Formats: sequence, C-alpha cells, structure tokens
Amino acid sequence: MTYVSNDVLITGEPYTPGLSRGYVAQHFGFDPSQIAKLGSAENPFGPSPKAMVAVAGAFAELDLYPSWTAEKLRVKIAEKYGYQPEQVICGTGETEVIACVIRAFAKPGDNIVMYKPCFPIYHIFAENEGRVPVYVDMGPGFEFHIDKYIETMKSSKARIAFLTNPHSPSGQLMSEADIRRVCEAAGNDTLVVLDEAYIHFTETEGGMPLVRDYSNLIVLRTFSKAFGLAGLRAGFGISSAERIVPLLNIKPTWNMGCAQTAGAAAALDDDDHVNRTVQMIVEMRGYVAQRMSSLKAFRMVPNSRSNFFLIEILSPKLDSTKTFEELLKFGVIVKDGSVSFKGLGKRYLRSDVSLKQHMDRLVDALIEIERRAA
Ligand SMILES: Cc1ncc(COP(=O)(O)O)c(C=O)c1O
Repeated sequence: MTYVSNDVLITGEPYTPGLSRGYVAQHFGFDPSQIAKLGSAENPFGPSPKAMVAVAGAFAELDLYPSWTAEKLRVKIAEKYGYQPEQVICGTGETEVIACVIRAFAKPGDNIVMYKPCFPIYHIFAENEGRVPVYVDMGPGFEFHIDKYIETMKSSKARIAFLTNPHSPSGQLMSEADIRRVCEAAGNDTLVVLDEAYIHFTETEGGMPLVRDYSNLIVLRTFSKAFGLAGLRAGFGISSAERIVPLLNIKPTWNMGCAQTAGAAAALDDDDHVNRTVQMIVEMRGYVAQRMSSLKAFRMVPNSRSNFFLIEILSPKLDSTKTFEELLKFGVIVKDGSVSFKGLGKRYLRSDVSLKQHMDRLVDALIEIERRAA
C-alpha cells in the first residue's frame, strides 16, 4: 500500500455526492432540463445576480495574488453581523473551514462528538485526520436528546462538538436554550461548532449573537445554499478572535481567490435573491407536505425547517435504495439515506424542497411507485 499519513486515506469511505443532471440524463434518457435535481440542496433560482456581476468584474484581477485572509469579504461579514474582522475566517466553502477546525482544535486520537445521522463530512474528515468521531444517536423522531449529547461530550472529553442547526438530514430546529447548554457545558478546552448552513430557511436569526456570550463557540455559514453559490465555493466562520488565529495559520494560505471573495461579498448584499428564495422554499415546504399526506407507502418526517426533508418509507416491500433507483427512472434525483448518512438505515430518503414542478414530479413518481408496490 502507498505510504500515507493515515491508512484511512486509502481504505476509508469517500464522500458520496448527490447525482448530477448529466449522469441521470445519460443513463436514463432524459432531457437534463426535465430532471428534478433534489439531492444536493442547491438554490433552484440559481446564483445571486449581484454575485454574478461581481465575479465577472473580478476577472481583471486574475493575474494578482488575492488577499490571503480574503480581507474584503472578512470586513463585509464582520460589519453585517456586528463583529470585528479578526473574528472571521473565510474558506472555500464551509467544508474547508470544517477541515481546518478539525486539524486546529483536536489532536490525533482526540474525540469529536456529533449526532448520528449528521453531515458526513464531520466524520469523514475526522477519520482522515486520525481524530475519533463519537456519535450520539438522535431519537426515533429525530429529537436532539441534549442531556445525552452533553453527557457524551463530557465523558469522552471531546475537543470539538458539532451541532447542525437546522439539522441535516432531518431539518429539525434545535432551540437556542439547548445550544447555550452545550456551550456552557463544553468549557474552555472544547470548541462548539454550530453549523448553520441552512439557517436562512428557518426564518430565524440563528446563533450568530451567541458568539458574544461564548468564546468557545464558532458559527459556520455557507454561500452555497440561500445565496445560490455552491459552485463558487465560499463559506465562513465567526468566533472569538483567539479561536480564529489557529484557523488562519492552518488554512492553505491563498485559499480564497478573487472571484470567490468578490462574489460572496456581493451576495451578502443581495437580500432580494435570498428573500425570494426563502419565501419560495417555505411555501413549497407546505405544498409538498400537503401533497405527501395522501400517500400510504411514504411519509414526510414532519417539522423540517430547512430546504430539504426526510421521506420515511412505510411499505415493507420497499427500501431506500430500491425507491432511490425507481425515482431515477422518473427523472427524480434524491439522496438514498443508507448511502449518504451513516446510521440512517434503509428506511429514509432525503429530498430537497424546490420549485412546484419538481415537487409535483417527485410526488407523482412516489404515487406511481406506491401503486406498483401495493
Ligand atoms: C450541514 C452542512 N454543512 C455544510 C455544508 C457544506 O457547505 P459548503 O458548500 O459551503 O462547503 C453542507 C453541504 O451540503 C451541509 O449540508
């Protein structure tokens, strides 16, 4: 075997992304524009128009090294949320900030606590870096069981504690009181990571103000979801200035290019795009819930506050992989829970909330799959 820092880099599980339109068009004979792409929680309205203009404007600077801290974006984020630029770290997507957090705040062999199921990048990156994921099971209705979480965090002496709000893949919203309890129990030697990738869709302010109260908290956000910039790769974290220093030192020096910095900074001002997106998602979340309520073989797991939801498979004749594959034949891409989320098992799919025509295509396909399995 090739000599590597950790054999898991060769033998470990890779990340499984949602399928692309091109793949499904090629294998199932659809026009790509007809495919309902509901597996990656992207913005169906496309990129922020203000970001597109700014990215085009940045091309004239392609010959120059960018600011290594993405200063322009850092300052803009700090102003928007009422913090100092020294409290902000920018990354090529939230995913890069997560990788830096794991390397900076846990040593090899240290424990990192997270819910099961969760965003798989937490445990994949932890294992790749020789850190040890410790899991806390959610309840049968995807309850957070915060006492159990805190007890596990403390008994395992976890150095990092991941929370996702709203939670992925269930979309459940954790209360501010629970987040405060975790920060208070964590102490100075454990960093609480509050991943708010989907916070816009909850129509709440989220946990950003808590950074003022807890120096052991970092709040992470992305430009990939409500801003529609998944292809640009930009995300950030806000924490106490002392927690940002190690992150700046461990990140690849010029991680943010000029196009990312300019596009993300412009998107922060694009309230029209964000508001229009959130309004549509909230409306369609209600619409698809109402349409799903007539199904017998499938059930929407209630109370998602995100731009996706879980579909529980009730029919004993079906499982998640079978249903996922059947949906592809209807030109509908979702996520097979058993492949995409460790510990979720064979009874769940995750689908995005999207435009009405895509929601109709999903529900119509489920109706047909239900009829055939009856
Ligand atoms: C919970 C969660 N956090 C972070 C991310 C990644 O965001 P980014 O595209 O900024 O790397 C995702 C992406 O799907 C996610 O589901």
